[in-house]
Amino acid sequence: MARLESLIGLVNRIQRACTVLGDHGGEGMSLWEALPTVAVVGGQSSGKSSVLESVVGRDFLPRGSGIVTRRPLVLQLHKIDEGRSEYAEFLHCPKKKFTDFASVRKEISDETDRITGKTKHISNIPIHLSIYSPNVVNLTLIDLPGLTKVAVEGQPDTIVEDIENMVRSYVEKPNCIILAISPANQDIATSDAIKLAREVDPSGERTFGVLTKLDLMDKGTNALDVIEGRSYRLQHPWVGIVNRSQADINKNVDMIAARRKEQEYFETSPEYGHLAHKMGSEYLAKLLSKHLEVVIRQRIPSIIALINKTIDELNAELDRIGRPIGVDSGAQLYTILELCRAFDRVFKEHLD
Ligand code: GDP
Ligand code: NA
Ligand code: MG
Repeated sequence: MARLESLIGLVNRIQRACTVLGDHGGEGMSLWEALPTVAVVGGQSSGKSSVLESVVGRDFLPRGSGIVTRRPLVLQLHKIDEGRSEYAEFLHCPKKKFTDFASVRKEISDETDRITGKTKHISNIPIHLSIYSPNVVNLTLIDLPGLTKVAVEGQPDTIVEDIENMVRSYVEKPNCIILAISPANQDIATSDAIKLAREVDPSGERTFGVLTKLDLMDKGTNALDVIEGRSYRLQHPWVGIVNRSQADINKNVDMIAARRKEQEYFETSPEYGHLAHKMGSEYLAKLLSKHLEVVIRQRIPSIIALINKTIDELNAELDRIGRPIGVDSGAQLYTILELCRAFDRVFKEHLD
């Protein structure tokens, strides 16, 4: 298990290094593209940002009604040793450590506005955020703007299509694990998430169905047909979720309390009690991390090939610029090179 943890941790670090430096994939598939990521997809207000926060166990995303997420947020979770204190870092202000998660939320909002203005427009330019914490599993997650059916006041008519194209550009990549979010209080047949997931992943092998808002279903109805895979079968089990309601958020119910409440909800539910151990955000986080390990293991040979190619390219580039240690770009190349070598070593160990 420790070895697998470090494997995903390394993948996370190389993805981050590729991001900082610009990808060094050269021709063909790039290293970044070869590594698995998880994208959160769904209709507006289906609970995407809430699910992400629950998985992280932290309150840090702008949330609410309407179009709040207007740029892709690439979120890298890095597990650090127990007892060390958690912090966050943005790629666009690398020298600043955020220890207060309310200011992380503010920075995401401000950085969104910096590109889009205070409009309801969207931008394809991602925000990169890393969270270092003892309480996370190593994962890269991408929060995306919600799919929508109509443009609202102040949005261009093309917005519906623009959002769909942006989301599609992430989920169509074969390395993308799709977290398809559907609210339980709407008919699954109308789910934007499932519609898109079905289109780009017809066999359902890289789609995880997540059903939110179970607590908001009409009395006397339940979601067992969906959760037990009878309404829409996927290769992975559906996971039911109860996020914080808007009232909970307004009352500042914290994430730990919310997770406990969610677990209680399932354990005491007459409908879902028998499934309680396979429901909820904590279970979802573990399921995703486990799946990621499997995927990375399968990809080890092709990742090693890409890493060796990257090492060659980086060496050539270092020769070309004359290895000027201390100069920023040279130092960064060395960092990435060192990471690649570390990868190569660890990956090869895993092949044995
Ligand atoms: P997004 O637009 O898909 O990112 O959705 P958000 O996560 O911002 O959630 C939209 C609204 O729905 C917020 O007010 C949340 O509090 C609320 N919400 C999300 N999930 C649940 C849930 O499982 N139960 C309840 N009661 N409310 C939820
Ligand atoms: Na929203
Ligand atoms: Mg959102």
